[in-house]
Amino acid sequence: MSSVICENIIKIYKSGEITSVALSDLSIHVNEGEFRVIAGPSGSGKTTLLNLIGAIDTPDAGRIIVDGEDITKYTEEQRIEYRRRKVGFVFQFFNLIPYLTALENVEFPMIVIGIPREQRKKRAIELLKLVGLEHKKDNKPNELSGGEQQRVSIAVALANDPPLILADEPTGELDFETSRQIVKLFRDLHKELNKTIIMVTHDFSLAMYADRISILRDGKVIETLSPAEKDLASILYVPKENIWESLEARKKALEDEIRRLENDFKNGHITLDQLVERYLRIKRELDSIESKLNEMKI
Ligand SMILES: Nc1ncnc2c1ncn2[C@@H]1O[C@H](COP(=O)(O)OP(=O)(O)O)[C@@H](O)[C@H]1O
Ligand SMILES: [Mg+2]
Repeated sequence: MSSVICENIIKIYKSGEITSVALSDLSIHVNEGEFRVIAGPSGSGKTTLLNLIGAIDTPDAGRIIVDGEDITKYTEEQRIEYRRRKVGFVFQFFNLIPYLTALENVEFPMIVIGIPREQRKKRAIELLKLVGLEHKKDNKPNELSGGEQQRVSIAVALANDPPLILADEPTGELDFETSRQIVKLFRDLHKELNKTIIMVTHDFSLAMYADRISILRDGKVIETLSPAEKDLASILYVPKENIWESLEARKKALEDEIRRLENDFKNGHITLDQLVERYLRIKRELDSIESKLNEMKI
């Protein structure tokens, strides 16, 4: 179980002449063993916040204290270690390796930290059992349903027994009933395994399963409440046209960014590794925006 304290976080993205303030003086306090939902409209800074807590990225100002340590002061090596052992990530698009079986996918993070073969196999099977998928252990991701793939992703996130689970719209690609089952699984895991879970969702019917809900607006936490405290619908409701417009604008900005990246690479300003890493991150967000836009067309 981890406790997470973010104090006065500022995060500004600069690409070329355009700057965009993603987080502006954001503070949030997540208790040890809490199941916290972060909710808010598209572009409010939810993904940025999770990336900072997960040490995928660093803030421009402010402190992030996880279990008493300021992770913003970590060296690159300490950050890698932190990502491997302290945090389990679950994303909207099930980040599974397509040519490995469910079992091998769960074993993968344990290979990275050097757990012996027999031990990791045993643990991987236990984890698949825990998420109700032992019988599908030899299936590859494309032989599993969306809900099953997300269950495997959760088992992967748990592989190295991290005290902190970060989930960014983990039900974004799933139908309502499957989404509800996945969120219930998070809730059960949080109780049984004593994990601190921070989950981003824009679906307030799912936010009800959390201990507390923090509402993000324009890069700030504007409110933190218990599910019973308020009519969440009225806080989270954003007119559909506004969502559409902001998604279209973000999509265009991301496409511009890909073009800039390609230019930077051609001109030798960044390495191939940097190109691939940044491209994959942008592509993940583009995929998620496109799926939201498609959903709204129906
Ligand atoms: N890599 C980036 N480069 C430039 N701007 C970004 C980048 N990532 C996010 N942003 C901007 O930061 C703000 C917050 O984005 P994000 O954290 O992705 O929001 P959310 O996950 O709530 O939709 C948005 O205005 C977005 O346009
Ligand atoms: Mg996001």
